[in-house]
Amino acid sequence: MRYDILTIFPEFFESPFSFGIFKKAQDNGLIDIKTHDIREYSSDKHKTVDDTPYGGGGGMLMKIDPIGSAVEDVKDESGKSIVVLTTPDGEKFSDKTARELAGFDQIVIICGRYEGVDERIREMYVDREISIGDYVLSGGENAASVIVESVSRFIPGVLGNDLSPENDSFNQSLLEYPQYTRPEEFKGEKVPQVLLSGNHKEIDEWRKKESIKRTFTKRPDLLDKAILSTDEIELIKELKETSSPSFKAYIALIHYPVYNNRFKIINTAFTNLDVHDIARSAVTYGVKTFYLVQPNLEQQKLVNRVLTHWTQGEGASFNKSRSEALNLVELRNTLEDVVEEIEEVEGEKPVTIVTDARSVDNMIGFSELRELIFSEAKKPYLILLGTGWGLAREIMESADYTLKPVSGYTNYNHLSVRSAAAVILDRLFSCKI
Ligand SMILES: C[S@@+](CC[C@H](N)C(=O)[O-])C[C@H]1O[C@@H](n2cnc3c(N)ncnc32)[C@H](O)[C@@H]1O
Repeated sequence: MRYDILTIFPEFFESPFSFGIFKKAQDNGLIDIKTHDIREYSSDKHKTVDDTPYGGGGGMLMKIDPIGSAVEDVKDESGKSIVVLTTPDGEKFSDKTARELAGFDQIVIICGRYEGVDERIREMYVDREISIGDYVLSGGENAASVIVESVSRFIPGVLGNDLSPENDSFNQSLLEYPQYTRPEEFKGEKVPQVLLSGNHKEIDEWRKKESIKRTFTKRPDLLDKAILSTDEIELIKELKETSSPSFKAYIALIHYPVYNNRFKIINTAFTNLDVHDIARSAVTYGVKTFYLVQPNLEQQKLVNRVLTHWTQGEGASFNKSRSEALNLVELRNTLEDVVEEIEEVEGEKPVTIVTDARSVDNMIGFSELRELIFSEAKKPYLILLGTGWGLAREIMESADYTLKPVSGYTNYNHLSVRSAAAVILDRLFSCKI
């Protein structure tokens, strides 16, 4: 593999690859790292590589002509070559990208500086734009060395043992299992017995289990891509019982006060289907209680008949999982009653979050709210779902947060409340598998 790094600071690369396995890999001819000073390709006598952006704004931009000439000069058109631009708005660099890049004969890496590069560089010279993370560095040099280092690990012979990268984290979308070396005991902390047993089958099984466990607790998002056996899925079911993050989520479906289609405050009727479906979603995603706020006495009688049928009557023995879901439902007269009850149970008022198909200013996004709920797991959170044409203004305005509306890649977002509830709960509480 040949790397050609285009930079205005070639000296940056003097040390990172001058020792350890990378020095060895270069000495053995497995990788060849060349740096090229972009200034050398500037046509003016001051060796200028940057200029002010058209349209104004702060900072300088890297000009197209020196970078363009450098790419044209170093790119080997005869082999399998790729030009990479390091940029914070590129695709997020990953183990998968590194494996793909390892399949090329030459990687030309452009290191930006200042405010970045003239847009035409991307259009005319770049095959792939790569970011090493959601933060901004002053230049692409660190990103280039991250790319060179991780790609090289996939080049046969570089690690000295071709199997090594296959045991590392991210292989098969799992994190690596815990590893230990001598001493066998340190300040009372012992190495797991199985690793000392010499039984390789048991060691392999233990490692796979630990790898899944570590991924489940630290990076559950990776599990979605992992190829798992049914036994491993069973293990994840056990982990859900023992190692799930703790959070206190409540939901309430509000039948009063809500709007009708002429924006008058009304009391909506109970909908059997909504209660069944939202209750099932609520159990699935670990909601503690699903409240129905319904002050109308006739409606309350109806709700109670349905709930009693499924939780105590014939329905309870006929369909146990339905009974489990409907056992989560509690009927209350007002939202204030719900808030008071949660405060009594949890020892503090719940943080309230309202949901609506319409947008207002300063809404919170799903990932931000998920992070908040998981990071402040001791606090109770109450998510309010509207019926009719949506929650009354007084409820909207008194809430702590308004959640962004659920939406896809179209501008249609008229979902039933039970569909919206399922999507909201999935985005907030999914374990990602
Ligand atoms: C100060 S940054 C330019 C940031 C640019 N104005 C923006 O907001 O997207 C200068 C250069 O550093 C490199 N760089 C900065 N952050 C990076 C990241 N997260 N991943 C890869 N390259 C990065 C790029 O080469 C970029 O052109």
